[in-house]
Amino acid sequence: MNEAGPVLNYEARITGTNGYEETAGSDVIVITSGKPRAPGMSRDDLVTTNQAIVKSVTEQAAAVSPEAIVVAVTNPLDAMCHVAKAACDFPRERVVGMAGILDTARFRAFISFETSASVRDIQTLVLGSHGDQMVPVVSASSVGGVPLTRIVSNETIAAMVERVRKGGGEIVNLLSTSAWYAPGAAVAEMVASIVLDQKRVLPCTAYLEGEYGIDGLYMGVPVRLGAAGVEEIITLDLTADERAALAQSAQAVRDVVSILG
Ligand code: 2OP
Repeated sequence: MNEAGPVLNYEARITGTNGYEETAGSDVIVITSGKPRAPGMSRDDLVTTNQAIVKSVTEQAAAVSPEAIVVAVTNPLDAMCHVAKAACDFPRERVVGMAGILDTARFRAFISFETSASVRDIQTLVLGSHGDQMVPVVSASSVGGVPLTRIVSNETIAAMVERVRKGGGEIVNLLSTSAWYAPGAAVAEMVASIVLDQKRVLPCTAYLEGEYGIDGLYMGVPVRLGAAGVEEIITLDLTADERAALAQSAQAVRDVVSILG
């Protein structure tokens, strides 16, 4: 990364280390540690292996950076957010997961393939768990301000939604391991919003305490992300179908979280 800087025009200094003490006083801790998926595995298949890894890494990183904001990336993402929060014992504002930006980016890419519109003009949102039960919010999807449902048939939207849900697996089948370009870009957007206090509204995995009728669970929702971490959880008006899908998604997360013990 340092050596790509002169070509790509950035000058950040990156330090590689195997010692947590060198990370002391960090503003942000991004936890990607864990085993990636192999073809045929679901994200949930990794739960117990990655629980031990995420717990140990979070404890050690948080111990030397007690004021940091923790961004969890390891799969199964929603459950690993619970593990990270328990391991560092930080307030909910300071433990957040990356999934929604990635899933939303996938949906935007697929809408662009279908409509030939620029991805920059495509707005959409994916909520819920980072798994097969994720909830692409069609009612919040538009191209240049025109609702998606007015320009793409329901069958095509349904196919795109399915491809978003299986998007991670599609990459695993091609690479024999997990995606990293789009996940890396998504985390960078979150870190920029925190470090630069941009207060972006981004879909992130946040600990819900009653929002969306869900209590005591990490789920993907739109949040305002700034220097204090999750500064606000934004509540959207969802359709009845979307609300039902979100409730199903919450149940899928609870099922995985129950394995953690
Ligand atoms: C993905 O969806 C790795 O879960 C990640 O690609």
